[in-house]
Amino acid sequence: MAFPTETVYGLGADVYDIRAIAKIFEAKQRPSDNPLIAHVSSITQIKELTAEITKTAEKFIHAFFPGPLTLVLPKSVRVPFIATAGLDTIGVRMPRFELAHEFLSACRVPVVAPSANLSGKPSPTTWQAVVEDLDGRIDCILKGDATEIGLESTVVDCTGDVPLLLRKGAISLAQLKYVVPETVEHVPNGDDSPRSPGLKHKHYSPRAKVEIVGLREAELLQPSSVIPTAYIGLSRPAGRFRREKICRSVDDYAQSLFEFFRDCDRNGIHTIYCEAVPTSGIGAAVMDRLRRAVSG
Ligand code: TXA
Ligand code: MG
Repeated sequence: MAFPTETVYGLGADVYDIRAIAKIFEAKQRPSDNPLIAHVSSITQIKELTAEITKTAEKFIHAFFPGPLTLVLPKSVRVPFIATAGLDTIGVRMPRFELAHEFLSACRVPVVAPSANLSGKPSPTTWQAVVEDLDGRIDCILKGDATEIGLESTVVDCTGDVPLLLRKGAISLAQLKYVVPETVEHVPNGDDSPRSPGLKHKHYSPRAKVEIVGLREAELLQPSSVIPTAYIGLSRPAGRFRREKICRSVDDYAQSLFEFFRDCDRNGIHTIYCEAVPTSGIGAAVMDRLRRAVSG
């Protein structure tokens, strides 16, 4: 069942139901080596899923749960390996969006849920985007509004002494460091792929080509006269584009980005120009998704 959270829509299954979890991988066409995040409605459920809540995790839970943050912890023996793609760790997250919380409470079990998109496509921020990717492949969708944040949760590995930021999101590195100063950004180096399996997979890419442009460049930008082009950014470009989104703020940019990518694909856009943003706050996560979309 697909359901909305404050970040993106997720596709959920009972963490203890191996068959249901297998169906998630099938519906999304997700590689089986990419682990799922378990969504909980209580601290008791975190204890049931994990072998240990480390000291750093405890601090992050206190500061940011419920919210757009996933903590990777040693898994308990109860969690089936299909949920964690064979890893002995599990990502746990407690969404703060009220409808998600009500749904999870009603389930009475932790719910593993990847983003509810076909693997490789941008995460869905509306129920319509879930229909677009998964109609006929899943049983039902809990319909809500467009998601508030629009980018996936921040993921932090809390299994070691030094917390590692694995995926950027609405909770910034600066906010994490404020709570645990040792926290560092994980830089993948090729031989440690088990640590952050999701990073090696293709992600967030629209079919259209994505180009990042700087502030100066954005203001001077003109649409191509030969190919369909689109623009998203904070600045107003010089010319009018086939599709364009002038964002009110970096938060608005984050919230709109994935739906804009999808809108461009629906409208046959060839190239999407995306204005770069400062990397403070959620800006770092926006830049991360843009860079992945460029290389995707
Ligand atoms: O905001 C979100 O996190 C959304 C909503 C639905 O909660 N979920 C989401 O799930 O984005 P998904 O599966 O699309 O992305 C999960 C990311 C992947 O990059 C995965 O590799 C990583 O988290 N991950 C999950 N479990 C992990 C683990 N045990 N160790 C390292 N990385 C893990
Ligand atoms: Mg995903």
